[in-house]
Amino acid sequence: MKITVFHGSPHKGNTYKATRIFLDELEKTGDVCITDFFLPDALPVFCSGCTLCFIGKKCPHSQYVDPIVDAILAADALVFATPHYGACCMPAAMKTLFDYIDFLVLNVAPREEMFEKKAFIITTGAGSTAAIKPISNFLKHCGVNRVYSLGLRMFTNKWDKMPKAKQTRYEKSLQRAAQKFYRAKKRRPYIYTVVYYTIVKHIIMKRYIGAGNFPYDNWKEKGYFDKRPF
Ligand SMILES: Cc1cc2nc3c(=O)[nH]c(=O)nc-3n(C[C@H](O)[C@H](O)[C@H](O)COP(=O)(O)O)c2cc1C
Repeated sequence: MKITVFHGSPHKGNTYKATRIFLDELEKTGDVCITDFFLPDALPVFCSGCTLCFIGKKCPHSQYVDPIVDAILAADALVFATPHYGACCMPAAMKTLFDYIDFLVLNVAPREEMFEKKAFIITTGAGSTAAIKPISNFLKHCGVNRVYSLGLRMFTNKWDKMPKAKQTRYEKSLQRAAQKFYRAKKRRPYIYTVVYYTIVKHIIMKRYIGAGNFPYDNWKEKGYFDKRPF
């Protein structure tokens, strides 16, 4: 199983610790090949907002973005690990990643590979579950087949400061989640994906007709009006 991992915290703290426990458990299967991207080092610039990706053209920061997109498309599974930050849920480094890959959503330039994948979101921080929602929504908009998550509500900035019993409980939860994630098979698409495809096909894409706009032309060329990309 090829796994591409995005580490969203600018330092190796609680989230890294939790993610390592999860990945170590996956590695015990002897059947995983992990590619890590540490943000912001792997993507040290902001999206310039040029929208070239929306029209199928090369990103001006392709030296950073192309290896990331290639690793996403080549993976069987994706892992997104981020602390919860109160202002807009996640560190800017993690949000920047989603700005760069936003063109993969169903209503712009969906990729059939995305509909085959499973994803796991690991978050830490007292409000950790708040960071899960926007990432999960984004992945569902990209058509990811199944999105799993675990939010660890830590109430401390240092893993080791948590009571020992809580550390053990979280370690076990991460290990169980990793095993379940490893075994998870592709399932029928989410009803959400089917409904969203239908809305995009019948309503959203029609708004681009005659405007010579890429999403419509791209959908037509790929045949998505006649055949779903999943
Ligand atoms: C700028 C910033 C904002 C934060 N905001 C929140 C918050 O609103 N709610 C919360 O529960 N924790 C918040 N935290 C704490 C982190 O989410 C928490 O300590 C997390 O486990 C840190 O993960 P890390 O060590 O991997 O960076 C914030 C931390 C930082 C640096």
